[in-house]
Amino acid sequence: MKSYADRRASLIEQMQAKGGGVAIIPTAPEVMRNRDADYPYRHDSYFYYLSGFTEPEAVIVLVAIRGQAPQTILFCREKNLEREIWDGYRFGPEAARTTFGFDAAHPVAALDGEMNKLLADAPALFYALGSDARLDAQVQGWLAGVRALSRSGISAPSSAHDVRGLIDEMRLFKDAGEVAVMRRAAEISSAAHQRAMQLSRPGLREYHLEAELLHEFRRQGSQAPAYGSIVATGANACVLHYRASDAVLQDGDLVLIDAGCELDSYASDITRTFPANGVFSGPQKALYEIVLASQAAAIAETRPGRRFIDGHDAAVRVLAQGMLDTGLLDANKVGTLDDVISKGDYRQFYMHRTGHWLGMDVHDVGEYHASETAAAGAEKPWRILQPGMVTTVEPGIYVRPTDGVPPEFWNIGIRIEDDVLVTATGCDILSKDAPKTVAEIETLMRQQ
Ligand code: GLY
Ligand code: MN
Ligand code: MN
Repeated sequence: MKSYADRRASLIEQMQAKGGGVAIIPTAPEVMRNRDADYPYRHDSYFYYLSGFTEPEAVIVLVAIRGQAPQTILFCREKNLEREIWDGYRFGPEAARTTFGFDAAHPVAALDGEMNKLLADAPALFYALGSDARLDAQVQGWLAGVRALSRSGISAPSSAHDVRGLIDEMRLFKDAGEVAVMRRAAEISSAAHQRAMQLSRPGLREYHLEAELLHEFRRQGSQAPAYGSIVATGANACVLHYRASDAVLQDGDLVLIDAGCELDSYASDITRTFPANGVFSGPQKALYEIVLASQAAAIAETRPGRRFIDGHDAAVRVLAQGMLDTGLLDANKVGTLDDVISKGDYRQFYMHRTGHWLGMDVHDVGEYHASETAAAGAEKPWRILQPGMVTTVEPGIYVRPTDGVPPEFWNIGIRIEDDVLVTATGCDILSKDAPKTVAEIETLMRQQ
């Protein structure tokens, strides 16, 4: 619980540096799926980052006003024996306060009454306006209530900050506890990819492999997939956001699996591509080796001092050269490697970025550009990598049937994705247990 309290203290310090005020951070609402059946509940990541508390209907309030002792307050559901018989244990404010280390806790129903008092004379509001319509309306009501007291000499907050910006910057740098959870999440997902490879054979359907992934995630204690699993065979691998569906794995086709579990609120995000029958064909292997080499080039750029975009640029260089070497791109038409890169012809086969921040959210928070403002007309500079950041590295090649493109490559879709922690001296591949070279994959798939 100490790390959550430390994060609240750090946020309070940052609020004070901005002149002080009151922060309001709600958790996520429960969402109905149909009639009285709800979607599995997932707390809000900002809220969890500052509390470790996973019940719905809860709000954190932080008070950081000059001349007053800072206060951390949790609003949560009251204990309710009737509801606990149906839905399970609730902490209730008192047990939540002591367990999660807040200065005070109140029933969530007391929010209106308490906020009117807490916002009186607060210089600023730290709140993510526009992300929760119901709470927005409540906040407006509280502000109106405080403004109505102006004749008694009480002032309402005169400025507002999006509190998420401050927390994003904290979340971007993972502490040792977070890294340990992310490493475990990546290990479980690596085991799931291994399991899917080992059980793959022509004639199965995509959902059979999805079932194996889910089995391994859950068997090892993961609460849920971190995002909708992609299991794409044959031409489906060229659809970037394809989901596991019912296509049959054909002898001679590749299978692209992009799947990662969520463990204790942290995501993993791994892609592997392998032959349904366990043996790469010549053209498949040729493109696979290019993607693998491009990933190695990007990983070599994933270290302190490099810009976030350097990995992408390195991957693009290797991919574009490979496209020229294999004839995917015709040098007579597109020119040299530098032409291909500057004019962007490689985008026909590689149309996405090589990585994104990874953390509690699969596409995690954090700026990709440096905070300093660029000179007029210049592009904003890219962010420099620092220890504690976690990024994915996920180059690919996707070949749709097109005139002028050698037909032996048609419908091949390959992506290789790892989760990489920037360390003091370089990087650490959290997902390294998932087989990746042609030899590793073919060897594993022979041992069925
Ligand atoms: N699975 C989503 C992504 O790779 O970004
Ligand atoms: Mn992915
Ligand atoms: Mn990804």
